[in-house]
Amino acid sequence: MKRIVLTRRWPATVEAILSERYDAVLNPDDRPLSASELRTALEEADAVLTTVTDRLDADMLKPGIRAQILGNFGVGISHIDLAAAQAAGLAVVNTPGVLTDATADIGMTLLLMTARRASEGEALVRAGKWTGWTPTQLIGSHVTGKTIGIVGMGRIGMAMARRAHYGFGMDVVFHNRSKVAETGIPGARQLPLEEVLAEADFLSLHCPGGAENRHLIDAAALARMKPTAHLINTARGEVVDEAALVAALKAGKLAGAGLDVFEAEPTLHPELAGLPMVSLLPHLGSATDETRHAMGMKVVDNLDAFFAGKTPPDLC
Ligand code: DGY
Repeated sequence: MKRIVLTRRWPATVEAILSERYDAVLNPDDRPLSASELRTALEEADAVLTTVTDRLDADMLKPGIRAQILGNFGVGISHIDLAAAQAAGLAVVNTPGVLTDATADIGMTLLLMTARRASEGEALVRAGKWTGWTPTQLIGSHVTGKTIGIVGMGRIGMAMARRAHYGFGMDVVFHNRSKVAETGIPGARQLPLEEVLAEADFLSLHCPGGAENRHLIDAAALARMKPTAHLINTARGEVVDEAALVAALKAGKLAGAGLDVFEAEPTLHPELAGLPMVSLLPHLGSATDETRHAMGMKVVDNLDAFFAGKTPPDLC
């Protein structure tokens, strides 16, 4: 039996299947493994099943380790040095496709929360400070008829754009590195990033993280946005320069933000939580029962294929 190490707890249904098919070492505490524990796992197991909370850098992914495959529970793999993994002869697989709807749902949740000042309203009610309805309290931004700017028109960007257009009557502009042939969304326009920044009332990020997109949304990018605009990030924290975002919000150069991901998760920029116009979620994009089960099963299918000598379907 192949030995596999799971770095975190996975859905019980998936852990049970993995334990039947493999010599599976589970993580009873569900705490992130230390760098040295991860190193040991790579040296002692045939497969290491990772998550976004594991950092697998070139220093760890050296030729000669026992692990032959990393099965990542998630689509984003910017926490894994893919080139180093490949150079060390490791296959890396992830879970594309199955978390598209759940993540786009969280994107729309944050868009609506920040547009309609839902976090401020909830805080008021929970604090027992709500004194009753008034014509002028917590007036937010209308969504229908506004423009959403999508950065990264992959599966999740497209699902977000569809929700915004068909569900909420929004116009769509988007930026994508390669040409997108067809979106199926009437009037959707592919534009250079600068133009998307300038046109968007809501800018929603769906590009990968990693070095190539680190601080794509920096002070200069934020300065191109309308002061009435809102930023939504369900992609990766490093895509946004959090300090620049805080400065823009404090200076009134941006109306609000809805964030599910952060630069140094789970640590936030010290001023972020104190800003009332910001809605914050703890990286919930794929957090539904159905999605987490499907993510786990995708890794199972990839492992099974790999150890049967086939090309895994989600080889990165
Ligand atoms: C993903 O799938 O990339 C989620 O953000 C969890 O890592």
